[in-house]
Amino acid sequence: MLGHILVVISSVGLALAVPGARVLADRQAPAANKIVLANDDGWAVANIRAQFDALTEAGYDVVLSAPAENQSGKGSDSETPSVLTSECEYNTCPVGSPATGCNATSPNLCYVNAYPADAATYGISTFAPKLLGSAPDFVVSGPNVGSNIGLSAFFSGTIGAASASSLAGIPAAAFSADFGDQVSYTTLSNTSSPNTQAALLYSQLTVKFLNVLLASPAPGPILPSGVALDINYPAYSSACSTVDAFTWVLTRIFWDPFVDDVETCGSDHLPLESDVLGANGSCQISVSMFNPSDKLDASAAQQAVVLGKISSILSCAA
Ligand SMILES: *[C@@H]1O[C@H](CO)[C@@H](O)[C@H](O)[C@H]1NC(C)=O
Ligand SMILES: *[C@@H]1O[C@H](CO)[C@@H](O)[C@H](O)[C@H]1NC(C)=O
Ligand SMILES: *[C@@H]1O[C@H](CO)[C@@H](O)[C@H](O)[C@H]1NC(C)=O
Ligand SMILES: *[C@@H]1O[C@H](CO)[C@@H](O)[C@H](O)[C@H]1NC(C)=O
Repeated sequence: MLGHILVVISSVGLALAVPGARVLADRQAPAANKIVLANDDGWAVANIRAQFDALTEAGYDVVLSAPAENQSGKGSDSETPSVLTSECEYNTCPVGSPATGCNATSPNLCYVNAYPADAATYGISTFAPKLLGSAPDFVVSGPNVGSNIGLSAFFSGTIGAASASSLAGIPAAAFSADFGDQVSYTTLSNTSSPNTQAALLYSQLTVKFLNVLLASPAPGPILPSGVALDINYPAYSSACSTVDAFTWVLTRIFWDPFVDDVETCGSDHLPLESDVLGANGSCQISVSMFNPSDKLDASAAQQAVVLGKISSILSCAA
């Protein structure tokens, strides 16, 4: 009966009443540390809440801005946010709640009753200026429940939210995980649930990646314009259960033997996501670079810029 205790507010102005109160202890995050956190599974699933907590704990300044409902598979669809005609996901807000709102006691947890792309762009344009004091430095979308490889790029709302963010001028990455079920964030209190364990692990992997990308000594913007990232985590398993067990491999989304990729690992053809993720037990994470307008692979020149940014975390495919 969460709907009875959650009072949503349509204006987020209240959060500014005590500006000095949002002191972040033990900040390790890079200087670019304002994050909008989006997804397509909905604002109340375990994965996105675990990610919110992990980023906040690592010193990032985060606002969660995600759909009020499960919006999986909605790609880059867009609509105007509307008043809730059914309860929010897992009954986290009642019918009739405003089109956008935030948790009254944790005001940086917000929903938008529209598609994933809309929730991300509303977070950029409205929640971030009010709750973080400016536009965000970066948008994290996910981690999605379920992988998004190959053709999924066209249908994934996780990738749709990252694409819309990138097209709105904010660098963005979609994260997807080949594990688990869409479960409520209340599951996170059950530490023996594999969904909880996986959500916590993936959230730490995302923090590790952001710490590298956002603090990269390579010059230039966080990502080249016209490029977003599509990152896929393999399944959580006994072999792949700690952050250090994983390696990060540069990949491409679509098979194309006629195009040259950036030269790395002794080749000018990047492996496919499916090759890297299909190497069972290898704990390899695929990192693809794509054009947010058409979801196709980035050019070799764009790949080279990304490679320069994150080379310290990359490995060659096993
Ligand atoms: C979320 O939506 C997707 C796409 O419609 C569907 O496949 C999935 O089962 C839904 N998840 C839940 C928990 O209802
Ligand atoms: C709202 O925030 C409170 C306090 O952090 C928490 O107990 C509650 O579960 C949250 N509800 C939702 C739907 O986010
Ligand atoms: C916690 O998760 C475990 C593993 O999924 C499950 O067996 C158990 O029933 C859950 N406990 C509660 C209190 O839901
Ligand atoms: C991957 O390895 C695990 C553990 O060895 C095994 O249970 C699973 O069936 C394998 N999956 C595939 C797709 O080969």
